[in-house]
Amino acid sequence: MVLDIKDLRIHYQTRKGMVKAVDGVSFQLKEKETLGLVGESGSGKSTLGFGILKLLPKTSKLSGEILFGESKENLVQKSEKEMRKLRGKDISMIFQDPMTSLNPIMKVKDHFVETIKTHIPDIEEEKAEEMAKKALEAVGIDPVRINDYPFQFSGGMRQRVMIALALVLNPKLVIADEPTTSLDVIVQAQILELLKDLKKRFNMSMILITHDLGVVAEMADRIAVMYAGHLVELAESEKIYYEPKHPYTKALLESIPNTNINDLELRYIPGSPPDLVNPPKGCRFAPRCPFAKKICFEKEPPTVEVDGSIVKCWLYKGDENGDG
Ligand SMILES: Nc1ncnc2c1ncn2[C@@H]1O[C@H](COP(=O)(O)OP(=O)(O)OP(=O)(O)O)[C@@H](O)[C@H]1O
Ligand SMILES: [Mg+2]
Repeated sequence: MVLDIKDLRIHYQTRKGMVKAVDGVSFQLKEKETLGLVGESGSGKSTLGFGILKLLPKTSKLSGEILFGESKENLVQKSEKEMRKLRGKDISMIFQDPMTSLNPIMKVKDHFVETIKTHIPDIEEEKAEEMAKKALEAVGIDPVRINDYPFQFSGGMRQRVMIALALVLNPKLVIADEPTTSLDVIVQAQILELLKDLKKRFNMSMILITHDLGVVAEMADRIAVMYAGHLVELAESEKIYYEPKHPYTKALLESIPNTNINDLELRYIPGSPPDLVNPPKGCRFAPRCPFAKKICFEKEPPTVEVDGSIVKCWLYKGDENGDG
């Protein structure tokens, strides 16, 4: 197992109160697995992704357990110094916009040398450059371009550079947060294909964050659906598509624009996500749920297993005095 996350909570302190962005999330990530993380804007996907690397603002509060790797070290307990040793080496992150994470006045080469030297301080510059060139080749970039600056690349190529940088030290886990959202569809498809190929070659696990269910369908072994800081469903990708259990998952699937020319009506989920400072006390989706019962507004639903899917919903737990 690569990750075992237990009851993770990430709250942000704001003037209006605590924003409960991730609120009691538990799941496991297996070796070489790709887990798609989906949900509407503001559901807590990025917070969860950054939280695993503890790249959070000082105003945040983190609790629960993030057990990483075979040794099951709890990252929640680790110091910033210890986390720095891990980031980029054992766990890497790929962001939506590579321009914000690449330094515009640093050559591509220097980005690599810096990353590599952080983890292998005694490495000779030539050896580091060799590693960088190999990584660039792996993502389809001519290694001679190692002396170019980020702005000399197109958006798609910059994302390739970012990916090469994330993979250069062969991490066990890569967290990709909307890695293709800022790219046009054709480049998007190429980058996804590349990620798929690299994942196999480098034997890594991946958490792929996206609001695009089409993207995860292509890529993910399992899909986790987040709603308002809760994980509401987790199952194998096919199960999510063909046998969704949670009403929110069903609504998300129905909101995918249909390519059928006779059905161009864009559906959306009526209502809006709740305020995460004062979320509803029962199920957070209840106010928008067509199947909501009385208990859904009163008590937080338990997380149960139904035909191999993990679901947080009262529909699958009729007895309100049940023990979960
Ligand atoms: N630094 C912060 N301080 C306070 N609140 C924050 C902070 N960062 C995020 N939030 C809030 O936490 C919640 C979750 O945000 P997050 O960015 O994790 O969502 P997301 O699912 O990644 O959304 P998107 O699809 O738009 O990227 C939102 O309500 C957001 O406003
Ligand atoms: Mg996000």
